[in-house]
Amino acid sequence: MQTPLVPFLPPSASTLSDRVDALYLYLIGVTSFFTLLIVAALIFFMLKYRRRSPYEIPRPIAGSHRLETVWSVIPFIIAMSFFVWGAGLYFKQSSPPKNAIEVYVVGKQWMWKIQHTTGQREINELHVPVGRKIKLIMTSEDTIHDFFVPAFRVKADVLPGKYVTQWFEATKSGTYHLFCAEYCGMNHSGMIGSVVAMEPGEFNDWLSGNSSKVSPVAAGQQLFQSLGCVSCHGTAGEGGRGPTLAGVFGSQVFLADGKAVKADEAYIRESIVNPQAKLVAGFGPIMPTFQGQVSEEQLLQILAFIKSLQIANRETPVQSPTVAPSGRATASPAAQPR
Ligand code: CUA
Repeated sequence: MQTPLVPFLPPSASTLSDRVDALYLYLIGVTSFFTLLIVAALIFFMLKYRRRSPYEIPRPIAGSHRLETVWSVIPFIIAMSFFVWGAGLYFKQSSPPKNAIEVYVVGKQWMWKIQHTTGQREINELHVPVGRKIKLIMTSEDTIHDFFVPAFRVKADVLPGKYVTQWFEATKSGTYHLFCAEYCGMNHSGMIGSVVAMEPGEFNDWLSGNSSKVSPVAAGQQLFQSLGCVSCHGTAGEGGRGPTLAGVFGSQVFLADGKAVKADEAYIRESIVNPQAKLVAGFGPIMPTFQGQVSEEQLLQILAFIKSLQIANRETPVQSPTVAPSGRATASPAAQPR
């Protein structure tokens, strides 16, 4: 790792890290300039207008609209520049690109559990290829943690009962610190690890050396069977007593109360742990909650399975011959005999 330009600054190793640093430098520049300006003016006026005789009476001062306008408008413009620049970067950072590789992250006291879509699991380590966009889908099993990789300028609170997404693209291979940046109990300071950014070739070697694991999609399909989801949603998510799941991810779902929601990760999760919260139009409140029956890691696996149904359904029904050809709202009762 080369030494950074500014001391104490972590290495800059992602596509966004230089942009975050530029914003930081701008903030430091502007605040330093005004600190110096104010202190200099303070000292200058202190000397220039010091009391020279004990009986001195100062000249009365009248207001100046022009001066007041100037010292309101200039700070306003400067403050808005912080806001516009910062918000732009924030949105860029928190909206993952479409073609990103997804990685599931579960924080718990006191470790980071990582699952790759290819089946590899890691604890306190995250291996990623350089030059590829990585989307993190993160949640917590217990309390609030914070996933912090200084070299990538990635930092986000990881909350229980919710999915938080972040993305990054490593630009240099190397091993970088991973911290928990939210006090989460006794061993918070030990909740550390590393992110290993590898050249794509090396990464493929790492992947193949760690294969043999079950992919989240396959694990999710297992759970889908064993938890009995299939009895209402069908073996391939074709629907039945419950809504169709094939193709649901990313689509608009119409609810019983007339509203529509986008079926994103958060919606799918809520529908599993709190099915009554958003009832799909045309279905009764018959689904039991799975709160407490499935771990966060298992929820992510079910999520991966439901997402996979989309791809299988859109193109060719490769997954199993029982995939219903139409994945639309009302499921055909004439599907298949069980
Ligand atoms: Cu987890 Cu601090």
